[in-house]
Amino acid sequence: MKKIGILTSGGDCQALNPTMRGVVKGLENLFGDIEIYGFLEGYKGLIYGNYRKMEVMEFSGLLAKGGTVLGTSRVPFKYLDTPTDDGVEKVPAMIKTYKKLELDGLFVLGGNGSQKTANRLYQEGLNVIGLPKTIDNDIWGTDVTFGFQSAIDVATHAIDCIYTTAESHSRVFVIETMGHKVGWITLYAGVAGGADVILLPEIPYDMKKVYKAIDKRKKMGKNFVIIVAAEGAISKEIAKLPKKEKKAKLAEKAYPSIAYEIADEIQQKYPASEVRVAVPGHTQRGGNPDAYDRVLSSRFGAKAAELFKAKDFGKLVVFKNNEVTAIPMEESAGKLKYVDPDNQLIQEAKTLGISFGD
Ligand code: F6P
Repeated sequence: MKKIGILTSGGDCQALNPTMRGVVKGLENLFGDIEIYGFLEGYKGLIYGNYRKMEVMEFSGLLAKGGTVLGTSRVPFKYLDTPTDDGVEKVPAMIKTYKKLELDGLFVLGGNGSQKTANRLYQEGLNVIGLPKTIDNDIWGTDVTFGFQSAIDVATHAIDCIYTTAESHSRVFVIETMGHKVGWITLYAGVAGGADVILLPEIPYDMKKVYKAIDKRKKMGKNFVIIVAAEGAISKEIAKLPKKEKKAKLAEKAYPSIAYEIADEIQQKYPASEVRVAVPGHTQRGGNPDAYDRVLSSRFGAKAAELFKAKDFGKLVVFKNNEVTAIPMEESAGKLKYVDPDNQLIQEAKTLGISFGD
């Protein structure tokens, strides 16, 4: 009999449940007899020994269910060696819980920070296997993370909904999609939604170029404009500032978020236009996994179970060159997968006339 722990950590996404289902189904089929400990609210559950002993059957019916039945939370990696507010040393506490339950392995479903912690636990001697979660698709070493495609679908649907109303009212819309540091969702949803302008954190924008795109659209006889901007879209002026000054400049902004600032600038430049903002926000992490994510989650789950059987620990399951495989956690830990401005999709989008404000 094998005893395993499983947890979901960091911001949630649509495909956490199907991925857990995949892991558990895989283990059940490979071993027959497993004891499952589901840690509640991510690493917090492991720190405080807060878990549920779960039956395999509890993971049935999760293929199409968004959210996470275990709950999640953020335990930032940079404070891993800082005790909790009630004085608990996090890493020793997690090791203690793992050892007390005599676990044979721990499956961590999480994004960048969570995988860094997973790698640390592996280095501390725990049998950890990581599965790459995040709508942001920014985990280094995998072409795609689970949650990303479902988030693109939601964001694209949001753009579609804005598209029709923008057209009816002849408006300029700035739609803000998730992604503070990376622009993957914005790039894909922007192209899928037929955006005129796409603004990514990786390609600082110049408002003059955005105006040029608006003017071009008007010249084409189009009465509405769709601009899709990532949360972390940044102007060229601010991007070129030294780190400290940049941080200060961003902190002093009077707008709720970047879309409002861009919309305000456009409104001032084109006083006769009606400019509006739409922020789909956390809907992009919500709802149910799409078909692509259900398949990806199932494949990732199966691979994680196989790694466990082979006692191949300290690995992150990844999707690389159309194949599910695994890489050492330490190879990925601490690196972000940014959108390369030379990315083929960006070049193709530019050929199609989409502006990136650069
Ligand atoms: O990392 C996922 C993500 O949804 C990002 O796209 C977004 O910037 C952030 O989390 C929002 O975080 P929170 O859920 O804490 O508001």
